[in-house]
Amino acid sequence: MEESKRLKKLPPYLFDEILKKKKELIEKGVDVIDFGVGDPDLPTPAHIVEAMKKAVENPSYHHYPLRKGLKEFRKAISDYYRKNHGVDIDPEREICVLIGAKEGIAHFPFAYVNEGDIVLVPEPAYPVYHRSTILAGGEPYFLPLLEENDFLPQFEKIPSEILSKAKILYLNYPNNPTTAFAKEEFLKEAISFCKKYGIILAYDAAYSEIYFDEKPVSFLSIDGAKDIGIEFNTLSKTYNMTGWRIGWACGNERLISSLCKIKENIDTGVFEAIQIAGIEALSGPQDCVKEMRNIYKKRRDIFAEGIRKLGWDFRLPKGTFYVWVKGEIKDSIKMAKILLEETNIVAIPGVGFGPSGEGYLRFSLTIPEDRIIEGIKRMEEKWGRKK
Ligand SMILES: Cc1ncc(COP(=O)(O)O)c(C=O)c1O
Repeated sequence: MEESKRLKKLPPYLFDEILKKKKELIEKGVDVIDFGVGDPDLPTPAHIVEAMKKAVENPSYHHYPLRKGLKEFRKAISDYYRKNHGVDIDPEREICVLIGAKEGIAHFPFAYVNEGDIVLVPEPAYPVYHRSTILAGGEPYFLPLLEENDFLPQFEKIPSEILSKAKILYLNYPNNPTTAFAKEEFLKEAISFCKKYGIILAYDAAYSEIYFDEKPVSFLSIDGAKDIGIEFNTLSKTYNMTGWRIGWACGNERLISSLCKIKENIDTGVFEAIQIAGIEALSGPQDCVKEMRNIYKKRRDIFAEGIRKLGWDFRLPKGTFYVWVKGEIKDSIKMAKILLEETNIVAIPGVGFGPSGEGYLRFSLTIPEDRIIEGIKRMEEKWGRKK
């Protein structure tokens, strides 16, 4: 049985080896500290779980879900954007409920990319952008995100023959893995760039609510965003709901309608009881989100203090629950291996997110404070304090 060419075209995951090694150590009973996975350790807030419990007992939610998602959930999303970002989104035509942001991001190129079309993909980045491009028959053209450019792509460096074939530009701020934020001027520049070259802007806002001081600029709040843009968002990170699989796409009506068309042929939507819980998440009390931000901020400060003492280079994150750190040695796979083998700590080698990630490690602060402190202690024992 021969796998399809498109499946064979997918590059291997560069962090597979680290994850295999981690599993082996855990099976041997080693106490591994896992800064690897970007999956919140905190539980889903109780009021959301309660809403789900009630909804699951209602037989009217036991059927196939409505295609675009429950009207009431789409209205809750629209109200949320108006209240939090001052953005008007029509719940009827400009929102499509997703089985998590990943699902929408992965299916979107199937709606717009033909064989050989180019998709502009930042790197280092969440791997789904370039992998879904390849699955849809397109060619990713990578835009390096470099520290000297504040981890923003430089559109002026893209050759004109690429621009003429480019269909989609993916952007993600607050950014995984670099933790960078995008300022308003950059988003304006990205929108006018896309308008000039007839490119769709697919904006991934999965970490939009995880910030510590200033709130990140909302993409859809920028003039003209809706003319060319679609935003992907999710309940996963904001409400610790990664396992529930619920998110949405919102923005340009035509883009939403095309994504819905693809989805109609693939999936049958999100269990409606989960959407009811989603309404509670977006419309219910928001103290849980504030508390979550405080917890991640405290963890960030503890971790940053420890990394500073090691003398390792990093930028203090303004948001997300990651820290993008320049390790002791440049070869990030080697560095992650040493970290795992000699201190039993998992961090993701930066090169796994793209070649410009070489030299970095991504630490995810989705573990309790005492584990972060223990992790820092182990690293200090191995490398010693430089400051
Ligand atoms: C940048 C980014 N976008 C999207 C997602 C996926 O979110 P969801 O759980 O809604 O599929 C993730 C998950 O790690 C992510 O890091």
